[in-house]
Amino acid sequence: MRKGEEFRKVWERVFSPYTVDNIMWLMRRYYLDGLEGCISTGKEADVYSAIAPGGERVAVKIYRIETSYFKDMAAYIEGDPRFERVKRDKRALVEMWGRKEFKNLLEASAAGVRVPEPIANRKNVLVMEFIGKGDEPAPTLHDTGPIDPEKEVRIMLEWSEKLYNASLVHADLNEFNVLVNGEELVLIDMGQAVSVKHPRAKEFLLRDLENISKYGEKNGVKVNPLEEYERITGESAG
Ligand SMILES: Nc1ncnc2c1ncn2[C@@H]1O[C@H](COP(=O)(O)OP(=O)(O)OP(=O)(O)O)[C@@H](O)[C@H]1O
Ligand SMILES: [Mg+2]
Repeated sequence: MRKGEEFRKVWERVFSPYTVDNIMWLMRRYYLDGLEGCISTGKEADVYSAIAPGGERVAVKIYRIETSYFKDMAAYIEGDPRFERVKRDKRALVEMWGRKEFKNLLEASAAGVRVPEPIANRKNVLVMEFIGKGDEPAPTLHDTGPIDPEKEVRIMLEWSEKLYNASLVHADLNEFNVLVNGEELVLIDMGQAVSVKHPRAKEFLLRDLENISKYGEKNGVKVNPLEEYERITGESAG
């Protein structure tokens, strides 16, 4: 049996033929040599560890089609001038979401925010830099708990500012979406990030800053989210 056919047989027990097609598309273009272990299963996406043909480890995020929350996702796309109108079918929306996360990672990285480098995207499948040591994925800041809360708060605020200056709002910034890779902190999960032109960008930025403030408060670091909002945007938070 040829390698591709073998792969399909195994993975169609786990994924839909549509998703297997997209993984195989990436394999044919030498982004992947198949998939290895599952790092995380979530409500919207599963993340796998994989090896690229050059031998380096990569992370592969695969968005679910069937269990995606259409209305929730649409709210983070509609109104973002970088994306066309939201199509009324799940598959198209999830494909748009994959493209959006890829683009957000590129823009965040260009803005100097430490995110996984995006490598490739095919419909609902995203390949990016693997964050971890060897084959061990880095834990989240929620898993590790605070190590140097002053530094963690400072870096999350810096990220918010750099993203804002690059016309982006993360919109889900909290300790679950920060990986602790040795000394380094890495911001992940950018599918929901929106352009500052999105009609709810202000609300989302304030919410991110409130999350940072809550994290600080629990760990003895004071952050005033309204002041931070005004400092970052130069606009009144009221
Ligand atoms: N590039 C990466 N390298 C290593 N691990 C990663 C990487 N990206 C994601 N992960 C792991 O996968 C988990 C889920 O990733 P992410 O936060 O991007 O997905 P999600 O959209 O929150 O999924 P859901 O909300 O459905 O759980 C992370 O908490 C982290 O453990
Ligand atoms: Mg997440």
